[in-house]
Amino acid sequence: MLSMSTRSRIEELRKLYEQALLGGGKEAIETQHAKGKLTARERIELLVDPGSFLEVDMFVRHRATEFGMDRRWVWGDAVVTGLATIGGRRAVVIAQDFTFMGGSLGEMHAAKIVKAMQFALSQGVPIVFLNDSGGARIQEGVDSLRGYGDIFYMNVMASGVVPQIAAIMGPCAGGAVYSPALMDFVVMVRKTSFMFITGPRVVRAAIGEIVDEFQLGGADVHATKSGQVDFVAGDDREAIDIIKRLLSYLPSNNMEDPPVVKTNDPPDRPVPELDEIVPDDPNAPYDMYKVMEGVLDLGTFLEVKAQWARNAITGFGRLNGRVVCIVANQPNYLAGVLDIDSSDKIAEHIRFCNAFNIPILTFVDVPGYMPGTKQEHGGIIRHGAKVLYAYSEATVPKLTVIVRKAYGGAYIAMGSKHLGADFVVAWPTAEIAVMGPEGAAEIIWRRELEAVKDPQERAKLLAKFTEEYRSKFANPYVAASRGYIDAVIQPRDTRRVLVKALEMLSTKREVRVWVPPKKHGLMPV
Ligand code: HXC
Repeated sequence: MLSMSTRSRIEELRKLYEQALLGGGKEAIETQHAKGKLTARERIELLVDPGSFLEVDMFVRHRATEFGMDRRWVWGDAVVTGLATIGGRRAVVIAQDFTFMGGSLGEMHAAKIVKAMQFALSQGVPIVFLNDSGGARIQEGVDSLRGYGDIFYMNVMASGVVPQIAAIMGPCAGGAVYSPALMDFVVMVRKTSFMFITGPRVVRAAIGEIVDEFQLGGADVHATKSGQVDFVAGDDREAIDIIKRLLSYLPSNNMEDPPVVKTNDPPDRPVPELDEIVPDDPNAPYDMYKVMEGVLDLGTFLEVKAQWARNAITGFGRLNGRVVCIVANQPNYLAGVLDIDSSDKIAEHIRFCNAFNIPILTFVDVPGYMPGTKQEHGGIIRHGAKVLYAYSEATVPKLTVIVRKAYGGAYIAMGSKHLGADFVVAWPTAEIAVMGPEGAAEIIWRRELEAVKDPQERAKLLAKFTEEYRSKFANPYVAASRGYIDAVIQPRDTRRVLVKALEMLSTKREVRVWVPPKKHGLMPV
């Protein structure tokens, strides 16, 4: 028999749970729903395996007293934190609760987040941070700022140790944007979320520009223009599905390999349609997605930053159940040229994959770097160098398929043997040369061409010289004769060959790759 006082304490705790689960209260929850948003707890329920959530710090409260804060508080201080399993694997979950003071971040709110992140680090499990907050809690002043500082510090400590995924599911403004910015992937919900350093009012006051919050920092803007966002979701549910799918490709931490799954797709499946994919005209576009999708296990391609810098493709896929990091040029968009944004996109993705032991598979069809003052003045030299740096630095298995063009510096940059690729194959359609045959012919035979005055005759001569150059260099065999590529293969055999190569390279480990001792390298930024 329980004594009355014990009974009443147990009853009291039950009531406290009820209170805590309501966050900022029923009315605030209704307002949240009316905006098309789920609450922090509803989001967690959708994200984690049923019944797996182990909440911590439910009874944390703020201790500020200024500006009426002694009369205003909520259990949990507007953020729900804990550990759960997602797809059977552990993760730390942090979800800001907009229903109390707009999910604003004060001292104790931040302390909960930091504690959860420390737990993720010590356990070696990913961090999933669902953002929905009005930013620094204004009433808590510098304690709020300190809280952000502590979170940023933890983001950096966790960087490259455990995967960090942020979802923006409401406001995210001011310095608050820097936690997601320091994390590895950002998912943003269209129409209900925005992200900017300074909001529309300040923008108007400071520079007279009139813009609303979605034009300034909505999901589509970040997905297409700034490249800040990796995935866009139509609503909260879709955002959560994306997070779950993304996690399925990632190891829990940098000491583990990514999970291998069983597949029904035969490893030696021939892909005859690939024999037909490269057009006869070397300047005609074709769709690199079709190449990748033919080669990867069926339905496994998950694209990252799909809408930004579309001349490059980045993402994840599987080959015979093993996760690979995908990097590709897209001849269908700007001829697959490397420019500032695509260089950043590629370099960032490679560095993530290298940090988390994910082999890199590159599909090459690149005519070179984008010419012109816009690119030169924008720093294409510095940005392009990031690609060289990221590939060279990567110690994971590196596999490269040269599909068609691999010209000049871009040939070297795109996962060439010279930057440490372990296995480079070329299709018979590959053209590995210092530059395109036409440009090369114009330079090599300039005098001969200038001597011919009749434009038609000159064009004929140029075509002859172009062909001469093409037959000499625009093929894979010169590079193959030097061992710069390991094999020339039929397109239809690409999947079979890559599956085998990936298996052969599966014991590659960082400790067996020579890198001079250093504190850290200096990647151009
Ligand atoms: C305290 C806040 C708050 C904040 C919102 N609230 N943001 N309380 N500190 N930062 C409160 C509101 O007063 C309101 O309280 C409740 O949350 C819900 O807000 P609403 O305005 O009713 O909601 P909505 O219309 O959806 O607008 C959300 C919003 C807006 C866009 C976030 O509230 C807003 O602009 N807030 C201020 C944002 C801001 O300037 N933050 C500081 C950024 S600077 P009641 O009592 O009415 O329910 C920053 C620096 C970080 O973050 C630096 C790190 C280095």
